[in-house]
Amino acid sequence: MTLSARITGSGSYLPAKVLTNKDLEGIVDTTEDWIYSRSGIRQRHIAAEGEFTSDLALAASREALRSAGRAPSDVDLIVVATTTADQVFPSTACLLQQRLGIHGCPAFDVQAVCAGFLYALDVVYRYVATGASRCALVVGAETFSRILNWEDRTTCVLFGDGAGAMVIEASESPGILSSHIHADGAFKDLLCVPVGVSTAYQEVLDGRAYTEMQGKEVFRWAVSTLGDAVIEILDANGIEKGEIDWLVPHQANIRIIKAIAKRLDLSMDQVVVTIDKHGNTSAASVPLAFDTAVRDGRIRSGDQVIFEAFGGGFTWGSMLVKI
Ligand code: COA
Repeated sequence: MTLSARITGSGSYLPAKVLTNKDLEGIVDTTEDWIYSRSGIRQRHIAAEGEFTSDLALAASREALRSAGRAPSDVDLIVVATTTADQVFPSTACLLQQRLGIHGCPAFDVQAVCAGFLYALDVVYRYVATGASRCALVVGAETFSRILNWEDRTTCVLFGDGAGAMVIEASESPGILSSHIHADGAFKDLLCVPVGVSTAYQEVLDGRAYTEMQGKEVFRWAVSTLGDAVIEILDANGIEKGEIDWLVPHQANIRIIKAIAKRLDLSMDQVVVTIDKHGNTSAASVPLAFDTAVRDGRIRSGDQVIFEAFGGGFTWGSMLVKI
């Protein structure tokens, strides 16, 4: 690979409806304090009835294109990471392509749950770095609220809806420096929606395809796996911990985020935290957090940033990016 793949624009979108921890006290047997102290979450956004993953993806994509100074017609590749596609098919990427008025370029979805955006960005990085794409749109978008059991307090308090997008362009100067993605299906039962159209079509039709999670186990594996993943990326690039300006982590639990920051000897001032406002938005969480920190001026051109994420499968990954 000779070319670099740079992030030239980003955007994000959150549905208007905010569900606070206090609101959840009226839905399940929980307390505002329990949720905040165990997870770091204070509120999350929930898509309105009739608002779908492609709607969220479209709003985030338009913003990302605007910030890159690009028109939809410049885009030659669309990859959408989502666990909550609008339809079984066509892919959400094809629905997004149609709504952006783009014709002919490849468009497909990637499914790696909460690590989905890193998987999608990994694919785009390789397309751009090999010259197969010059201007790609990569999106993480979720209406995760649709696969939650609103009677299960151990899961429904943790997730939210949203979308984040990036424009990735071929460049002579460095952008994405390296990307490392992994999976281990041996852990398939610890975090899952155990039904799908092939196994239990009626449950899917009835809206009973729910997220199930062994929270304590997932927590333990996320801390150790992500801790190793961020060290892997330092070693692969021959850089020291002190050379990292920002960590943009997957937003699943503030205690997991703090543990990873500690592995990197980073102060929490160098970590982008949005979990308090967004909850865990699965594939949308990393691009949403990135866009937040770019827009408020924290992440700037020249900064060296690590992205990391962990999700059902298990799937996980880390990426080192020069902005
Ligand atoms: N409100 C109040 N009590 C709750 C609750 C809620 N929303 N959810 C669970 N509890 C109860 C449990 O039933 C348990 O009660 P018990 O001791 O009587 O059985 C008690 O709180 C403690 O639960 P525990 O599982 O020990 O809490 P925890 O400190 O492990 O925190 C999680 C729970 C889910 C926040 C934490 O395990 C976690 O974040 N796990 C990883 C989740 C994750 O990252 N998932 C996505 C990965 S992409």
